[in-house]
Amino acid sequence: MVNTTTAAGLIGVVLLARHGDRTAYYQDPATYNSTQAYITPLGEQQEFELGSFLRNIYLNPDSPSFIQNISTDVADINQLAVRADAGGGNVILNSAYALLQGLYPSTQESEITLANGTTVLSPLGGYQYVPVQSLEYWQSPSLTSWMDCEYFQSHLNRTYASSAWLNMSTTAAPFLTALKPYLGGVSNNFTNMWNIYDHVNVQYTYNKTYYETLPPTFLQQARYYADWVQHSVFTDSTSASIGQVAIRTLLPEIFWALGNMTKTSNKVKMNIQEVDYKPFISLFNVTNATLTDPDISGIANYASVVALELSQDSQGQYEVSMKFKNGTEDSQFRQLTMFGNTSITFDKFVQELFSDTINSTNNWCFSCNQTVLRGCSVFNYSNDPFLGGVGTGY
Ligand SMILES: *[C@@H]1O[C@H](CO)[C@@H](O)[C@H](O)[C@H]1NC(C)=O
Ligand SMILES: *[C@@H]1O[C@H](CO)[C@@H](O)[C@H](O)[C@H]1NC(C)=O
Ligand SMILES: *[C@@H]1O[C@H](CO)[C@@H](O)[C@H](O)[C@H]1NC(C)=O
Ligand SMILES: *[C@@H]1O[C@H](CO)[C@@H](O)[C@H](O)[C@H]1NC(C)=O
Ligand SMILES: *[C@@H]1O[C@H](CO)[C@@H](O)[C@H](O)[C@H]1NC(C)=O
Ligand SMILES: *[C@@H]1O[C@H](CO)[C@@H](O)[C@H](O)[C@H]1NC(C)=O
Ligand SMILES: *[C@@H]1O[C@H](CO)[C@@H](O)[C@H](O)[C@H]1NC(C)=O
Ligand SMILES: *[C@@H]1O[C@H](CO)[C@@H](O)[C@H](O)[C@H]1NC(C)=O
Ligand SMILES: *[C@@H]1O[C@H](CO)[C@@H](O)[C@H](O)[C@H]1NC(C)=O
Ligand SMILES: *[C@@H]1O[C@H](CO)[C@@H](O)[C@H](O)[C@H]1NC(C)=O
Ligand SMILES: *[C@@H]1O[C@H](CO)[C@@H](O)[C@H](O)[C@H]1NC(C)=O
Ligand SMILES: *[C@@H]1O[C@H](CO)[C@@H](O)[C@H](O)[C@H]1NC(C)=O
Repeated sequence: MVNTTTAAGLIGVVLLARHGDRTAYYQDPATYNSTQAYITPLGEQQEFELGSFLRNIYLNPDSPSFIQNISTDVADINQLAVRADAGGGNVILNSAYALLQGLYPSTQESEITLANGTTVLSPLGGYQYVPVQSLEYWQSPSLTSWMDCEYFQSHLNRTYASSAWLNMSTTAAPFLTALKPYLGGVSNNFTNMWNIYDHVNVQYTYNKTYYETLPPTFLQQARYYADWVQHSVFTDSTSASIGQVAIRTLLPEIFWALGNMTKTSNKVKMNIQEVDYKPFISLFNVTNATLTDPDISGIANYASVVALELSQDSQGQYEVSMKFKNGTEDSQFRQLTMFGNTSITFDKFVQELFSDTINSTNNWCFSCNQTVLRGCSVFNYSNDPFLGGVGTGY
């Protein structure tokens, strides 16, 4: 194992950040299609805090993880690539803005001088407007790859019929019966566990009567089953299977971003992907991170972050190291392993995960057996080797 954090600092980092606290978010258990949700002031604070944390790790010259040559106070937009899912009520996109406000807070230093000599400071005491690429649902399946994916729906059906599922459903049954009075109109069917937990969590956070009457441990028990259910839904028997689709469509961006950072012509030093909880679960599974840290197999808390840090060892080899912070309740990063190591070469990282990737809309359509929606109707399926379910991990 090689210590990646050399005195010289990092070359760059790719961050996957989860959005902050939001209003209720319903997901159909048969499809995982969802309704929209809106960020809350609590969620904005969580993201701002995450941004401040990242600032202290990556933009602080005294930090061992300082990124070489990055602009510390005035954001250099050429050094940042930020992308966020713009679906639903913009909870994820707005989370990215709140994170950036903490990362590069308002500063008088961002003042500019016009040709006529007048100086101008941005509003709000020098607010820094960092561009964010907002990805709409219809533009690309990259950040919402499980939706309208037929094979993913087949995977859900298989998961719900598995013996592990039926056993856990039986274990959970007494709890779900006891929880029924606290669910309003929400079904207490085990397949609905995401919505059950979300209802309990949102009510417990915002409804005083609920907060005062929900029996102790009910929130934790609901979370326990929701963690288990989401792990089952967003992992699969092999890394290249459809249950991992949430990370499989994000891996190409990670490879390209890290690969670009190894080139001398590159300017981008921090690539931020603002996402929901699903890619975290799949990522920790396909990298075998959960073998060393089994407790990270559940849902990542709001404003969680995964860092893929790029550095160079003393021989000049590029190394990747993965760290995680489970929302605001963790004050520090935790070092994770990938394939048993705290650091692996960039080449090995790509080599181990390359065969799992879905790197284009065309590839996604085939991998999902989707021939109509989400831009799939333009492709020719006459010689489609995937329609029969062969070679897709179906
Ligand atoms: C940082 O800047 C120095 C001096 O310009 C240069 O030699 C070095 O390669 C740069 N490092 C990175 C990672 O950009
Ligand atoms: C799934 O959600 C998307 C985005 O909200 C919507 O465009 C699509 O029609 C939905 N699909 C189904 C089958 O409801
Ligand atoms: C300089 O230009 C700015 C922007 O057009 C304008 O608001 C300001 O009044 C100008 N100042 C002078 C001294 O002309
Ligand atoms: C999944 O199961 C449901 C209910 O049995 C069925 O309506 C649906 O067509 C199945 N979906 C797929 C993709 O097999
Ligand atoms: C729970 O939901 C599943 C799938 O949505 C369905 O097959 C099952 O019949 C439901 N169980 C009950 C008790 O309603
Ligand atoms: C708050 O919780 C109480 C107790 O469960 C419930 O009766 C009430 O409908 C909830 N209020 C809202 C606005 O959801
Ligand atoms: C990598 O660099 C190429 C060339 O500059 C650029 O087109 C591409 O968008 C970059 N990709 C990422 C993910 O940074
Ligand atoms: C990945 O997920 C699959 C399916 O849930 C599970 O069988 C496997 O043990 C997981 N692998 C790791 C490394 O956690
Ligand atoms: C994050 O912490 C919560 C408890 O606050 C736990 O239920 C969940 O499994 C953890 N998630 C990960 C990915 O570690
Ligand atoms: C990941 O863990 C599985 C056991 O869960 C093992 O079979 C596989 O070889 C590991 N992969 C790598 C690349 O270490
Ligand atoms: C995209 O994936 C295909 C395999 O499905 C591969 O042949 C191709 O090289 C990949 N393209 C990039 C840019 O990674
Ligand atoms: C894939 O979709 C086509 C129609 O779009 C259907 O005929 C075929 O049965 C599907 N394949 C599988 C394995 O579900």
